[in-house]
Amino acid sequence: MKLLNFNNVSAAGFRNRGRKKLYLATFGCQMNEYDSQRIAQILHEKYVLTSEPDNADLILVNTCSIREKAENKVYSLVGRLKKFKKQKPGLIIGIAGCVAQQEGDRLLKRLPFIDLVFGPQCIYGLPDMLKHVENGMGAVLQTELKHDFLIPPVTAPLPEPNPVQAFVTIMQGCDNFCAFCVVPYVRGREVSRPSEDILAEISQILDEGVKEVTLLGQNVNSFGKKIGATHSFPGLLRMVAETPDLERLRFTTSHPKDISLDLMKCFRDLDTLCEHLHLPVQSGSTTVLKRMNRHYTRDQYLAIVDKLKSFCPDITLTTDLIVGFPGETDRDFKDTISLLKTVEFDQIFAFKYSPRPLTRAARFDDHIPEEIKTERLKAVLELQKEIGLMRYKSLEGRKEEILVEGISKKNPEELRGRTRGNHVVNFPGPQELIGKFITVKIIKACYHSLRGKTLIH
Ligand code: SAH
Ligand code: SF4
Ligand code: F3S
Repeated sequence: MKLLNFNNVSAAGFRNRGRKKLYLATFGCQMNEYDSQRIAQILHEKYVLTSEPDNADLILVNTCSIREKAENKVYSLVGRLKKFKKQKPGLIIGIAGCVAQQEGDRLLKRLPFIDLVFGPQCIYGLPDMLKHVENGMGAVLQTELKHDFLIPPVTAPLPEPNPVQAFVTIMQGCDNFCAFCVVPYVRGREVSRPSEDILAEISQILDEGVKEVTLLGQNVNSFGKKIGATHSFPGLLRMVAETPDLERLRFTTSHPKDISLDLMKCFRDLDTLCEHLHLPVQSGSTTVLKRMNRHYTRDQYLAIVDKLKSFCPDITLTTDLIVGFPGETDRDFKDTISLLKTVEFDQIFAFKYSPRPLTRAARFDDHIPEEIKTERLKAVLELQKEIGLMRYKSLEGRKEEILVEGISKKNPEELRGRTRGNHVVNFPGPQELIGKFITVKIIKACYHSLRGKTLIH
């Protein structure tokens, strides 16, 4: 769970006189983090963020329903919030995001102390929804999902003063209907934003001091496909890369079926585009990929990796995969293990298959027993631990340019930065370095992070 917060308390306190307090908890992917940032912007005139739910006037939980575990986390947090309502009767509590979209009215019935339930497309109506509740007109439910929804521009300042990196959603929804995935049902059809809106938003956040921008979409590679041939994702990347003051550019997520040669060439040609690609494979078995409705084979995936490396030999590759998809045999699973050994990802996000409402795979009749899913997940993670450590160790002794993002999560006395290849580096240094580019020497590799020593600042 993430909280958006003000890190400059005294300045924020000065500006915040008269504003109410908003506690905003965010689960799920970067799309939700982006939406939470927008919620804070939309409510900026009336609300200031707080990290303490017990002194909030408004509590919003932005939820994720990608797996059952994610959904359950929401119920456990929201259950704990009930006591605050008793302590402070005027407190308003709302549930936003993908669980709100999926469950709608059922949430209001299950949790009668909730005042607002609204889906991802409805965040822009928040001021009106709040007025409705404040006027004693009862709970509000807004889960309309428009198939031609366009993300409106928002010009209020970002919630955190001078954040170093920011997300910009370039498209929303998804048309792919992978058999396991709830996203198309909770986020609606794929709609790309006009490039002018994206470029204007990027200029605004760069003016506020942001150094690194990550373009977001469930499948960025199909950006613009529905708008017409003049819009393509590589075309957008080229335009964004030319924005003055942009130092680093990233994007996520790419679907292997839509990756083009032109996109691969961007990693070679665009100086600001960082050498990292998150390319979810989901399974190493062509049979399973077909049943997942992924539209690529194992060999096609491996061919993409080879081609990419021919354009950008140093590229960092990361992936998502699912173990225990319905019907996955031992042989299919071995194919996933062998794919991991062949590609040697720097990092993987591996999940046990979790049946989701409305999805096709939930209705398949050959579900895998939980013990086998657990065993397979353990095997995958053990293998990746070795591979990941070997990949990270290959960086030992290298000099790397990092963007310093903030205080280290492991040790509050240290700082945390990120290489262009998306490796986190923890190192000792003064807080004034936050937001700056510095060169560090990598002195030790750990699992998922590196230790560094500053060379120049
Ligand atoms: N749009 C992205 C994925 C978004 S969801 C893409 O296409 O790659 C993030 C990850 O969650 C997926 O890549 C998948 O690995 C995992 N996931 C999605 N649905 C799941 C389910 N029902 N059970 C387990 N993992 C799931
Ligand atoms: Fe889900 Fe597939 Fe769409 Fe990704 S591409 S969001 S996994 S349906
Ligand atoms: Fe979760 Fe919704 Fe993102 S289901 S992964 S928050 S699109």
